[in-house]
Amino acid sequence: MALDLSTATAPVFTEDPYSDDNLRDPYPLFARMRDAGPAVWLERYGVPAFTRFDVCKEILEDYSTFISSAGAGPKNLHHEKSWRAQGIMESDPPIHTTMRQAMGSVISPRGMRALRNQFQQFADELVDRILDMREFDAAKDFAEVFPLRVFGDAVGIPREGRAENLLALGAMNFSTFGPDDERAKEYFRMGQGTNDWAMANCAREKLAEGSLGQQIWDCADKGEISSDQAALLVRAMLSAGLDTTIFSIGNVMRLLSVHPGEWSKVHVNPRLTKFAIDESFRLESPFQSFYRTTSRDVDFHGMQIPADSKLAVFVGAANRDPRHWGEDADRYDIERQAGGHLGFGMGIHQCVGQPMSRLEMDVLLTTLAARVKAIESAGDAVPYLHNTLRGWESIPIKIVPA
Ligand code: HEM
Repeated sequence: MALDLSTATAPVFTEDPYSDDNLRDPYPLFARMRDAGPAVWLERYGVPAFTRFDVCKEILEDYSTFISSAGAGPKNLHHEKSWRAQGIMESDPPIHTTMRQAMGSVISPRGMRALRNQFQQFADELVDRILDMREFDAAKDFAEVFPLRVFGDAVGIPREGRAENLLALGAMNFSTFGPDDERAKEYFRMGQGTNDWAMANCAREKLAEGSLGQQIWDCADKGEISSDQAALLVRAMLSAGLDTTIFSIGNVMRLLSVHPGEWSKVHVNPRLTKFAIDESFRLESPFQSFYRTTSRDVDFHGMQIPADSKLAVFVGAANRDPRHWGEDADRYDIERQAGGHLGFGMGIHQCVGQPMSRLEMDVLLTTLAARVKAIESAGDAVPYLHNTLRGWESIPIKIVPA
């Protein structure tokens, strides 16, 4: 059921968080939404929206009241058909629990340790390449190249067709977590056929021997999940794990290029790289917003929300909430304790691929930090406009080798 405006007691916002201007720079609007109250009413979309850290965390942790099986976007999948078979992100326990256990057993600390060497080899190669270039586009020549190679190889899909299909698939997939507007429709047009490509390459016989994809299928052999679920889990890796990591690498690179002092710190002590990464997940969260649906009538922070209502959770705003992070929440400070941010979500759906993207980023950026003395911006970065992903289309950068 859609929530009736007459039942909404929260401050009304007529502005559109998904407009070009607000996507280009979402933070002034996020600040106004947070200051207006724990909940605001987005008039254009007819949903309550949440932007404060504590409230977003409360929603994500209460998975039985704020459910995911009706979709993690504004469309209610209990009443409308999903564009594709629902996967782990759009499920509740007990279905969610079995899928989560299977995926968690594959993306395990042991599984990640086994990948480190092959990630390191390609990181060395890529860093050699950009050191030769000195001036390059950190989005296209660096951030995009690394996960496409190492993550694709780890999942075990063929190299051919990866770039053409998976980037468009990710953009289309993440569009479903925001409104079905012209921008989303355009990403859907560009993504035509890519879901079929991904599903065809998720089949057991297409996946490389010993790959993560094959290990998911082994869970089906052991009877832990069904064959349909195995294919959906491999697809989930491909559609959720690539764009997010690419934009995350770009976001750290951009932040460090405009904060050269922070780069000096990571160069002197590359072990600080992981703090630079976490602080950028907080400040520029790659997956900015998604939705939940109420499983019952709920009286929540002054709003009477009927059962079966959609609500928007803006983790990108929560991660800059000064009530939680202090008055300098908008500042990039790699010495801040940024752990506990909501960039990977929270609760039972918290990103299961997190150890994979952390490993990719840690290996690549630590290698770069050791070999590059200084980094600076070489022109205006061009933002990538997407309803739920935050990143850059182009990040011109100059580096000085150590
Ligand atoms: C830096 C990169 C990444 C970011 C920022 C990110 C962000 C997120 C967030 C915010 C969620 C929670 C969504 C919700 O609560 O509805 C999530 C869930 C998920 N992510 Fe990631 N993710 C990243 C990388 C990955 C990778 C590499 C994979 C696959 C290997 C992956 C697979 C998934 C899956 C399958 C879920 C659903 C988990 C569940 O429902 O239990 N993600 N991710």
